[in-house]
Amino acid sequence: MTSILKQLQDSVSQALVAAFGAELADTDPLIAPTNNPKFGDYQSNVALSLAKPLKQNPRAIAQSLIDRLQLADMCETPIIAGSGFINFTLKSNYIGELLRKIQADKRLGIEPTQNPQRVIVDYPSPNVAKEMHVGHLRSAIIGECLSRILEFIGHDVLRISHIGDWGTPFGMLIAYLREAYPEALASEQEMNLGELSTFYRQAKKRFDEDETFRDASRQAVVELQAGDEKTIKAWKIVCELSSRSYRQIYDLMGLSSIIERGESFYNPFLSQTLQELDRLGLLEASEGAMCVFLEGFTNREGNPLPLIVKKSDGGYNYATTDLAAIRHRVREDKAQRVIYPVGSEQNNHFAQIFQVGKRAGWITDGHNFVHAEFGLILGEDGKKLKTRSGEAIKLKDLLNEAIERVRADLKARFIAEKRTETPEFINESAEVIGISAVKYADLSQNRTSDYRFSYDKMLDLKGNTAPYLLYAYVRVQGISRKGNVDLKKLSDAKITLAEASELTLAKHILQFEEVLKDVEKDLLPNRICLYLFELSQKFNQFYDQCPVLQADEPQRTSRLILANLTARTIKLGLSLLGINVLERM
Ligand code: ARG
Repeated sequence: MTSILKQLQDSVSQALVAAFGAELADTDPLIAPTNNPKFGDYQSNVALSLAKPLKQNPRAIAQSLIDRLQLADMCETPIIAGSGFINFTLKSNYIGELLRKIQADKRLGIEPTQNPQRVIVDYPSPNVAKEMHVGHLRSAIIGECLSRILEFIGHDVLRISHIGDWGTPFGMLIAYLREAYPEALASEQEMNLGELSTFYRQAKKRFDEDETFRDASRQAVVELQAGDEKTIKAWKIVCELSSRSYRQIYDLMGLSSIIERGESFYNPFLSQTLQELDRLGLLEASEGAMCVFLEGFTNREGNPLPLIVKKSDGGYNYATTDLAAIRHRVREDKAQRVIYPVGSEQNNHFAQIFQVGKRAGWITDGHNFVHAEFGLILGEDGKKLKTRSGEAIKLKDLLNEAIERVRADLKARFIAEKRTETPEFINESAEVIGISAVKYADLSQNRTSDYRFSYDKMLDLKGNTAPYLLYAYVRVQGISRKGNVDLKKLSDAKITLAEASELTLAKHILQFEEVLKDVEKDLLPNRICLYLFELSQKFNQFYDQCPVLQADEPQRTSRLILANLTARTIKLGLSLLGINVLERM
């Protein structure tokens, strides 16, 4: 279905040509939904923007356009407001017809894109030799959400986790494995190495306290890089241990299956990547290292900053691997768009590697490489998120705490309401609500800003939170149960919209496609959250003001369809955020 916005844009474009000639065929009609019903449903300020070039009064321009607009099926006669804005108000019959069409469509009338692209989303990309931290939580939440949105729009999405699985930190873990679990290396069978976090802690302790252990760690790095077979085996054991612990978190978070393609994957391509840079004349020697001098980045003395791609000891680094990855993603994966949901502290890193990628000709005008940067998660005190005893918070603990809080709330509520529910129901609900709340709290913020992590806020039933949306969805399912109506079987009856709150809700439902298109471009999922929050509010107003089950036909069916479309939109929207709904709460 062509979105309302698109139809309005096309009509205004045609009117522009009819009124002022074909030169204006590509002029942006500058139409946007209004946020105040006083200005109709959509507004265009194209007449204002054309006043200068056309040397005419903007109100006169607006009038010439209105005279030529062919929108009688869709809108009331457009109105000129202020110094030349054109306000469009949709006809309620037209809205009813559109709702009827989307009611019959599995995708709620949202057509897949005409230009499907191959997209890579690089997330959550944790580091094997370190614990997953809250930055990876954001990457996981945002990356999963962007992948789902782009996939739903019709793009071919590859989820790739660029795991930090190579380099110096491994020395310590390998040395510890050799010391503490020699059997693991000797046998072919898998061994239980206990909890990853304990393993790390003990390895780190040994590293900090013992000089010979440190020597052994450094030696292990050299062997690893030289490809020594036994060392590689130890490395694999550590990677596997770590990977198992991520997978638990991924399962808990309901992440889709992700290709694990760590830094080590690019080892065979590193030297050819540098050779290519060299052939292009981009590579220079500086203080024993090989580097690319960056444009627009200077050091303290004002000289061009070098991006080191081969250290003086001959080793490669994070930037080298990422350059090889860019080249591989373009040439082998044929990606047209590559999205990196990674914290803002890596802004420079990405700006630098993208620059080199462009200068090397890997990233062309036909490619879109974006660092979908995000801010920090802060504690309620506005400082770095920490446990009470001051340690970094483990992801698993953070998620489990959310679940436990919901479980306690639910139990208390069920007792107060004298409801008996099975332990399975309580467990499932606590898990869905708890995880949803954490995800939603993150996604509802503009990703570029820092936010404060507060269980109380994210679980608040009255705010812009997951529980509020889940509850709106459940309310609709409650109507269906109470009235014994199978919402799936609602006929394609005519939808009549008479009450203001019905119209407001209906119009809002129809704006989802436009919101998705914006997010496809700017990768800001908080717009979807805001959209869904407003949808739920508008539904609640409608439901407070308009009887549904008690209404007479044809209004009853019409309102049931409106309620059902609200629920379906919430369910779809939440699923794109990576959140499941519950049928009752
Ligand atoms: N492993 C990195 C970190 O934890 C993130 C990697 C992001 N992806 C990339 N292609 N650089 O900081």
